[in-house]
Formats: sequence, structure tokens, C-alpha cells
Amino acid sequence: MNRCQPLRVGVAGLGRAAALMVPDLARSDSTRVVAVATPDAGQAERAEELLGCRSYRSVTEMCQDDQVELVYVATPHELHCAHACSALAAGKHVLIEKPMALSVADCETIAGRARQAGRAVLVGPSFGSLPGVLLMREIASSGRYGHPRLCTVFSYSDFVYRPRRREELVSKEAGGVILSQMSHQVDMVFTIVGLRSPVAVDLVPGNWDPQRPMTGAYVAVLRFADDFGASLIYSGYGRAGRTSGDRWGAQGDREMLRRVSSEQERYMKDGRAFLAGSGFLGGSRRAANFARVVVHLEGADMVLERGSVKVIDDASEQTIRVDNSLRAAHRRAIKEMVGVIRGAEEAIHDGRFGTEVVRTCSAGVLSGASRHAVAVPPVPLEEIVP
Ligand SMILES: NC(=O)c1ccc[n+]([C@@H]2O[C@H](COP(=O)([O-])OP(=O)(O)OC[C@H]3O[C@@H](n4cnc5c(N)ncnc54)[C@H](O)[C@@H]3O)[C@@H](O)[C@H]2O)c1
Repeated sequence: MNRCQPLRVGVAGLGRAAALMVPDLARSDSTRVVAVATPDAGQAERAEELLGCRSYRSVTEMCQDDQVELVYVATPHELHCAHACSALAAGKHVLIEKPMALSVADCETIAGRARQAGRAVLVGPSFGSLPGVLLMREIASSGRYGHPRLCTVFSYSDFVYRPRRREELVSKEAGGVILSQMSHQVDMVFTIVGLRSPVAVDLVPGNWDPQRPMTGAYVAVLRFADDFGASLIYSGYGRAGRTSGDRWGAQGDREMLRRVSSEQERYMKDGRAFLAGSGFLGGSRRAANFARVVVHLEGADMVLERGSVKVIDDASEQTIRVDNSLRAAHRRAIKEMVGVIRGAEEAIHDGRFGTEVVRTCSAGVLSGASRHAVAVPPVPLEEIVP
């Protein structure tokens, strides 16, 4: 392994996540996309031509490619565990899209296989890699303003009204927005205040459009053993937080999604995949529509906004400008991934981190279904992944 050569990446799955991330992997000086795996022959051919890479019809086949050092797993949630394990068995490092897997047991399997194989597992890119979130981590861990005590995250998107695969609309298969979006929020919290295991999660799910029956919103309170607490609110119903560029929250599109069959909707979702339409260059240029994070430290409040981090203490209010675009988050995720694999950087978003995010979100799913707070066994982190 030559530390100066770009990291050679194989991409598993060329859907929406890949449409956002692959352009940034291709642009980066420290990564090179050498292979892709997709069941779609036409898409494979276009990817070969554009990226100058090889293509495979299956992830297992791609994992046998000696040129691939790391597999970026961007297939649907339910395939993450199988695809990450195939890559690790073939001696590759893995970057797994969020959520790491659909259950804590699957996360632990992936982390265990990585340990046996001596390979790295990273989870992302998530909002935990936004430059503003990483800056808040630095400020919190400097100790300058004391310990973090409370945190609140509120995010809004049009998740429910974007074209979806059938499984994404079935909460019990893919966790609705809880696994898909709460994972971003929990990732931000753990990135800022340090990885920790909640002792209880109390979540109220929202599911109020009978035409799109899924968990589309929630409010959750996370309690931690050291009296740190976080509240998370999310709505994927596309109203608050909508910007003029958001297409799918608009009324006409909602009505259209109600009329189409699941096959037609799947076809529309594929229209947002890698190399469909403006997929390649469009990529991740727009701002992340993640809304706000407020962290209350003992001696100051920090507020994450679209283009800045504000730090407010008793004497002053400081606004630090940061680029919180998805592309900037991707750059930071790529830097972490390459740094960890080349031995130059400590991982933040590793397998242990991804496992704790899924443990927290799974407790949220259970709390929502059982309509009361769920106690999460306090697991010493070293016991989760020794
Ligand atoms: N980080 C983010 O901002 C972000 C954004 C979107 C999606 N995601 C995550 O990425 C993952 C994929 O979501 P998506 O929206 O891109 O889904 P998608 O349906 O758009 O894409 C999935 C892709 O996987 C391919 N695929 C399915 N089975 C396969 C197999 N056996 N072998 C090879 N390829 C296979 C499909 O052809 C498709 O191209 C999910 O876990 C999701 O949570 C993350």
C-alpha cells in the first residue's frame, strides 16, 4: 500500500446516495473510483465510460477485484450487512452508508468481521461530517466552556414525498424516517459531544398521511447516564424548512405520487440515481437541508446554522462562517476515510460509532411502537466492540 497513491474505491450500488457521493469521490485527489457494481447493465456501461473504471453485475464479484482497496456500500439498508461482510471477507476496507445496518446484531457482525480481517469500517457520509458539526466537536472537546449538558436537533425535509422504493415506505422493513433520518441526527449529537450510549429513549412517531403510510416524523428524547440529554425533532412532510429549490414537497408532486403505481414510483426514484439526468455533476452541490442544532455547554451555547456556527457566552456572541454544503461534508468524510486507512488519522465514524447510532435509533423504533420510553441496557462501550 502506497500512502501517497489515491485510495482505490469500488462502489456497491449506484442509486441516489451514489449520485451524491461518487462525483465527490471522483473529484478528490485522494480517491479513485476503480470499479462499480450495479445490476443495471446500461448504467454500468455509462459508469465505465465516464469514470474509466471496471464494472460488475454483483458486489461479490467486484470484491474479488484486486485493484479495489475499499468498498463504498451504497446499496439499500437491508443489504449493508451482507455487502460489507463480502467486502471484508475479500480483505477490503468498507465505508457503509448510514444506517450501518438494520439491527445492532448486524452492526456487531460487521464490526467483528472487520476486527478479524484487520480492516477498517467507516460509516457515512452523514451530517456528522459537516464542517460546522466537526467545529462544534472541537469547541466542545476543548473544555473551554465546560461539559455539554443538553442538545436539541430539529430537521425538516420532504422525505415522505420523494419517489421511494416500496421497502422505504414500510416502516417495519426500513424503519421509516427513524433509521434513515434519526441516524443523521444521532450522528451529529455523538460527533459533537462524544460517543456515548443512551440509557433510555422515548419517541413519539408521526404517521399522518394515509396515502403515504409510514413513520414520516418523530420527536424523541434521549437520556444518558451522565445527565446529558438530547431532544430530536424531525418531519419529512416537506413543509417547515422547505426551500424554493425543494421539488418534492410541492403540492402537485404529492398528488402525483398518490396516483402512480409502486413500479412507476420506483422508475421515478431511479431517475435520481447515479448518471440519471444531471446526476454526475449535480451531485452534492446544494446546501444540506438539515436545519438546526443547539448544544448547551455549561458556559456557552453553540448553534449550528446553514453557513455558520454561533458561540454565545456571557460576554460575547461569535459567528464563525463554515461551508455546510453536502459536498463539504463529503470532503471531510473522504479525508477521515483516507486518513484512517493510511494510518494518519483517528476514526470518529467507525464501526463502534455506527453500532451505537443504530442501537439508539432501534430503541427509538421500539419506543414508538410500544408507546412508552424504552430503557436501553447501559452497555460499556468497550463491551460493544472490544
Ligand atoms: N448519506 C446520505 O445523505 C444518503 C442519501 C441517500 C441515501 N443514503 C443511504 O444510502 C443507501 C441507499 O439508498 P438510496 O436512496 O441510494 O437507494 P437507491 O434505491 O436509490 O439505490 C440503491 C442502489 O443499489 C442497487 N442495488 C440493489 N441491490 C443490489 C445488489 N444486490 N447489488 C448491487 N447493487 C444493488 C440498486 O440498483 C440501486 O442502484 C441507504 O442505506 C440510504 O440510507 C444516504
